[in-house]
Amino acid sequence: MATVPMDQRDGWIWYNGEMVPWKDAKLHVLTHGLHYASSVFEGQRAYGGEVFKLREHTERLIFSGKTLDFTIPYSADEIDEACRQVLAKNNLVDAYMRPVAWRGSETLSVPARDNKVHLAIAAWVWPSYFSTEERLKGIRLCWADWKRPSPETIPCKAKAAGLYMICTLSKHAAMDKGYADALMLDYRGYVAEATGANVFFVKGKDITTPLPDCFLDGITRRTLIGLAKANGYTVTERHIKPEELAEFDECFLTGTAAEVTPVSEVGEYKFTPADACRTLVEAYMSEVQPKQAAAE
Ligand SMILES: Cc1ncc(COP(=O)(O)O)c(C=O)c1O
Repeated sequence: MATVPMDQRDGWIWYNGEMVPWKDAKLHVLTHGLHYASSVFEGQRAYGGEVFKLREHTERLIFSGKTLDFTIPYSADEIDEACRQVLAKNNLVDAYMRPVAWRGSETLSVPARDNKVHLAIAAWVWPSYFSTEERLKGIRLCWADWKRPSPETIPCKAKAAGLYMICTLSKHAAMDKGYADALMLDYRGYVAEATGANVFFVKGKDITTPLPDCFLDGITRRTLIGLAKANGYTVTERHIKPEELAEFDECFLTGTAAEVTPVSEVGEYKFTPADACRTLVEAYMSEVQPKQAAAE
């Protein structure tokens, strides 16, 4: 199915404080963010007209910028308000949103303290396509060849563009082999995360998830830990060796885009999505609904 290229859509993008027609939201080829990955972003979803955990996403965006040594020139309140305006201006209710901040084009060399920091916010329709039943079939993952690096080599807590280079490479390799995604190990050989989502494993009423000490501690991940406990599961965060996957019955990914996605296979290890996946897919989809709608 042909999809409209991302730069050819209709709508409005919030760009440095102005609503700009979608196709006009451009930047120069000599932009520092493009050459040196001085760019941070968020992926957040609106459900029923409200962005789930908007303030947490906005705070992570500001934190990511600080981690890359730049200050986004808008307050958290201003960014939250801009996100709401983007939804309203585009008449969106259920949408994926992409705030992105980057260093501009005043100078083009490694140091860039004086370059302007830009912020843009786009949103588009990206519904949850799968019913619970479809999700419960599970997706197939292979092992990635690339490893999540040590915190001493990259700012691993930032949601920064440069960290996605190995994610794109790993996802391409997985797709070439017919898999939906790849599961990455970390620099020590422990299980880390998928290319854009965190991972959980289930054995009975016990859930185990990798300790996020060198990769993104996802907002969905933290939400899921709370929901799992509320649903009677114990949750342990610890280092997991790949061979331990043989001991688990269920596996699922979590992320803003992935929501809760059951997994049926990781390389040589097989899983059967069952009670835990069903309970947590449903608990998450209920949790993300705006409070007012959920109360009705
Ligand atoms: C590499 C990576 N890990 C984990 C996540 C999950 O994070 P969140 O639940 O905050 O969307 C994402 C998605 O943003 C991601 O890109």
